[in-house]
Amino acid sequence: MDATNTGAKAAKLTVGDKSWDLPIHPGTIGPDVVDIAKLYGQTGMFTYDPGFTSTASCESKITYIDGDEGVLLYRGYPIEQLAENGDFLETCYLLLYGELPTAAQKADFDYSVTRHTMVHEQMTRFFQGFRRDAHPMAIMVASVGALSAFYHDSTDISDPQQRLIASIRMIAKMPTLAAMAYKYSIGQPFVYPKNDLDYTSNFLRMCFAVPCEDYKVSPVLSKAMDKIFILHADHEQNASTSTVRLAGSSGANPFACIAAGIACLWGPAHGGANEAALKMLSEIGHVDRIPEFINRAKDKNDPFRLMGFGHRVYKNYDPRAKIMQRTCHEVLAELGIKDDPLLDVAVELERIALSDDYFVEKKLYPNIDFYSGITLKAMGFPTTMFTVLFALARTVGWIGQWKEMIEDPSQRIGRPRQLYTGATQRDYTAMSKRR
Ligand code: CMC
Repeated sequence: MDATNTGAKAAKLTVGDKSWDLPIHPGTIGPDVVDIAKLYGQTGMFTYDPGFTSTASCESKITYIDGDEGVLLYRGYPIEQLAENGDFLETCYLLLYGELPTAAQKADFDYSVTRHTMVHEQMTRFFQGFRRDAHPMAIMVASVGALSAFYHDSTDISDPQQRLIASIRMIAKMPTLAAMAYKYSIGQPFVYPKNDLDYTSNFLRMCFAVPCEDYKVSPVLSKAMDKIFILHADHEQNASTSTVRLAGSSGANPFACIAAGIACLWGPAHGGANEAALKMLSEIGHVDRIPEFINRAKDKNDPFRLMGFGHRVYKNYDPRAKIMQRTCHEVLAELGIKDDPLLDVAVELERIALSDDYFVEKKLYPNIDFYSGITLKAMGFPTTMFTVLFALARTVGWIGQWKEMIEDPSQRIGRPRQLYTGATQRDYTAMSKRR
C-alpha cells in the first residue's frame, strides 16, 4: 500500500493494482489534511489510527497548537499575550465569538456572566446527597449534568438563543458549583456569589470566605488564578474536548455534553495530572531521592511515569508551563513562602529531566501541570480540587468547540469504525456441552 502526496490538491492511495485520488485540504497554518471521508465508500477499507494521533476529527477556527515549536494560539493570539494583557472573561469572549471584544462588548459580556452566577437554590439539596468525602470531580460531573434538569429553557440545541444562554450559564455557574463542591467537602456553608467582584475574585471569595469574618481577595492571587484560567481555557481537540464534541454530535443537550467532558478530564493522563504531579513531588519528598524516581520512570518494567512531564502534542517546552512557572513564583512570593520543599524537588527534577538523555531523546518537557499543582496548593486548594479548577477554566473551550460543531452545516453524529480481530461467526453451544 502506498499513499503519495501528488503535489497540489490530492494524494494517491494505491493498493495492489488499484489507485484512488484523495483530496488534500490546506489549513491556514499547520499540516495539510488528506480527506478520507469517502475512503470506505470507494475502497471498502477503513483507516487505523489508535489514539487518533494522525487524525483531524473536525475543522476548527478556535485554537492552534504547534507542538514542535511550543506555540499555542487562541483565535490566532499567542497565549503569552492573552495571559499578560487580558483577563479570563476577555479570553472567554474571544474563544466564543472569534474576536477580542470592544470595551462595550466586554462590559456587556461581563454583565451577562455576572448575572448568571447563582445556581437554582434546589441545587444545594442535590449537594446534600453526597458523602462529605466525595471527590469534588464526582460532584462536578453530577451537578453539571443536573443543570439540564434545572434549565429546561436552554436545552434546545437548534435554537441559537438557547445555545447562547446555556453557554453563558455554564461559564457563570461553574465557579459557583466548583466552590460549592469545595465548601461541601470541608463542611463549611456555601458562599453566594457577589456581583460587585470580578469573575475570579468572586470565585476565590466563594471558596475561602466564611460568614463569621470579612474576606479580602488578594489582587496578586486573583490575577494568578485568572492567568491559570486563561492558560487552561482551550487546547484544541484533546481527549475531553473530543468527548464533548462526540457527545454533542448525537444532539445531547449542552449541560450533558460538558458533564461528559468533565468525566474525561478527570483521568490522570489528562486533567488529573496536576493532582498526580503534586502527589509525586510529595512522594519524592527530597531532592536526594530524585535519581531513584528518574530511574523508575525510565524502567520499561515499571509503570511509573514522571507526572507533569510529556505531552501528546508538545514535543517542546509547553508555552503554558513557562507562564505557569513564573506565576508559581509570584504566588509563593505573595504568600511569603520562601522555602517550599516541594518547589525545591520540582526545580531539581526539572533540571535533571531536561538534561537526561532519556527525556531529551523522547522530548519529554515539563507540561502545565508540573507547576500548577504547587501554585494551587500554596493558594490553599486541596489536591482534589485541582482538576475541578481545570474543568472550570476549560468549560469555555468545551462550549466554544461544541457551538462550532453544532453550527457547522456538515456536522454528523460521530461514529468511528474499528479493526475487528475477534472471533468469526460461530454457533451457540448449549451450556451442558461447554468445557
Ligand atoms: N515519564 C516517563 N516516560 C514517559 C513519560 C513520562 N511522563 N511520558 C512519556 N514517556 C515515554 C513512554 O514510556 C514512551 O516510551 P517508549 O517510546 O520507550 O515506549 C514514550 O515516552 C512516548 O510515550 P507515549 O505514552 O506514547 O506518549 P503519548 O504522547 O501517548 O503520551 C502523555 C502523552 C501526556 C499521556 C504522557 O507523556 C504521560 O503519561 N505523561 C504523564 C502524565 C501527564 O503529565 N499528563 C498531563 C498532560 S498535559 C495536560 C493536558 O493537556 O491534559
